[in-house]
Amino acid sequence: MPDLSTKLGKLNLKNPLILAAGILGTNAELLKRIAESGAGAVTTKSFSINERKGYENPTVIELIENGQKIGLLNAIGLSNPGFEKFKEELEKFKSYKPDTKLIASIFGTIDEFPKLVGMTENFADAIEIDVSCPHVDDSISKNPKILKNLIKEIKGIIAKPLIVKISPNVTDIKEIARAAIDGGCDAIAAINTVRAMKIDINFAKPILANKFGGYSGIGIKPIAIAKIYEIYSMLKKENLNVPIIGIGGITTGGDAIEVIMAGASAIGIGSAVHYRGADVFGKILGEMDKFMNEHNYKTIEEIKGIAVE
Ligand SMILES: Cc1cc2nc3c(=O)[nH]c(=O)nc-3n(C[C@H](O)[C@H](O)[C@H](O)COP(=O)(O)O)c2cc1C
Repeated sequence: MPDLSTKLGKLNLKNPLILAAGILGTNAELLKRIAESGAGAVTTKSFSINERKGYENPTVIELIENGQKIGLLNAIGLSNPGFEKFKEELEKFKSYKPDTKLIASIFGTIDEFPKLVGMTENFADAIEIDVSCPHVDDSISKNPKILKNLIKEIKGIIAKPLIVKISPNVTDIKEIARAAIDGGCDAIAAINTVRAMKIDINFAKPILANKFGGYSGIGIKPIAIAKIYEIYSMLKKENLNVPIIGIGGITTGGDAIEVIMAGASAIGIGSAVHYRGADVFGKILGEMDKFMNEHNYKTIEEIKGIAVE
């Protein structure tokens, strides 16, 4: 029986599967359902200090090209009811499932981030800062200097692990990952959605109300694999030991193994919940287990980064 446990710095996970931010993570009941499906950790939907309305409908569409389901396109606009409401859900989740790790995903401006981290820290096992949503202002994740200074400031006030979720929508993701690491982050989550658009040719207009959205699911997996490979390769060359949460199109146990071979220590699962149901975590764990047994792999650590030169 392979050992699927993994570590994100000080955070020990019973297995590497994490519910990615924004998918069913709006309340304690839904997070509990995912935890019961076997996830090692769950991430909330990103929340801000104050309530945020988000964009008009349509906000999420399924992308089907030539009859093939290739993923989802969303521009929700980070709608959320604000910190006070989320705090209640975080507390409820911990009373339901104290043994499943809880990651609070937050977003804000440069001034709001440190404040919100301080407000949230006691209600979660780790904090993830979302600086990379492609359909709202993602300027922090595109400016290494600003990002590094922000992380330094946040690390000065929290003791719990700090995860930085970064964007693929940049020229060189290594530069952004390096800035997050230089600022002192405990883990990197990569990737957020890929900036994209779908035009309805009958109406000659983009379908999403916001026009641009974030592309997720099966079609972005090769992009995610390449970005994670690049980051891990840099870490390896520089002898840096910062774990990566690999996210982007991971749908099967084989995909999970692939992203670990590219250098991830844990795996974020988002759109696959839509494609395979809320019990996708148990399914992927079973598939990973089978692959590892067949190939005589005993631990995640043994596979981590083995495809990276
Ligand atoms: C509907 C939807 C909402 C999302 N909301 C958030 C969010 O609030 N915060 C965040 O950091 N990422 C958000 N994401 C991005 C996901 O966490 C993930 O990075 C991305 O979807 C790629 O993973 P996937 O292909 O497994 O879905 C969202 C994605 C989708 C599809």
